[in-house]
Amino acid sequence: MRVTSAEFIKSASDSSGYPEEGLPEAAFAGRSNVGKSSLINKLVSRKKLAKTSSTPGHTRLVNFFRVNDKVVLADLPGYGYAKASIKERERWKRMVEEYLVNRRELKAVVIIVDIRRAPGQEEKDLVAFLTGEGITPVLVATKADKLGKTRRLKPLREISEASGVPLSAIVTFSARTGEGRDELWARLRNILDF
Ligand code: GTP
Ligand code: MG
Repeated sequence: MRVTSAEFIKSASDSSGYPEEGLPEAAFAGRSNVGKSSLINKLVSRKKLAKTSSTPGHTRLVNFFRVNDKVVLADLPGYGYAKASIKERERWKRMVEEYLVNRRELKAVVIIVDIRRAPGQEEKDLVAFLTGEGITPVLVATKADKLGKTRRLKPLREISEASGVPLSAIVTFSARTGEGRDELWARLRNILDF
């Protein structure tokens, strides 16, 4: 997809701060440091729209971006950041849950996992929760550039088995090479209907 405009709208910690664009929305969820913000930047072809960092726990609020004046992307704080205090982790969990439960514009959640790491209970719970809420989960295995093409099938099978998402429905992605970008946009356009 050709991205003609991509703007940061605002950050919010709770529903009182969410933007009121009325556009269909996709959110990006996953473990801390898995590459959520990098994936968003690759999708919109902007290097620094969403702030990225090699230190986990970088995104601490829900950050909203408007793309082509047609769709909103929401970058969520990562879960499972071991070094955060229990209090801080609870605050993030509440923030993400409040968003997922209350955001009416939300149509799709892109669940991002590292291709080298099978999904855990958090990802399984999230798939189940979203399915129950009528929000379509899209499973993405990122950092695919870390593995040669022939070494991908085994971990992808494991991701499929652990998550319950069919292999053919998993998008293999790399923010380094741009692999999977077009496929992910095609999925999102289909679900968000824009
Ligand atoms: P938090 O906001 O802390 O939860 O992290 P995040 O999930 O937004 O991750 P972020 O995009 O900040 O990336 C974390 C690290 O992974 C950075 O050092 C990135 O350069 C690296 N990274 C992200 N995507 C890829 C990828 O596709 N390939 C490779 N090789 N590295 C990646
Ligand atoms: Mg981030």
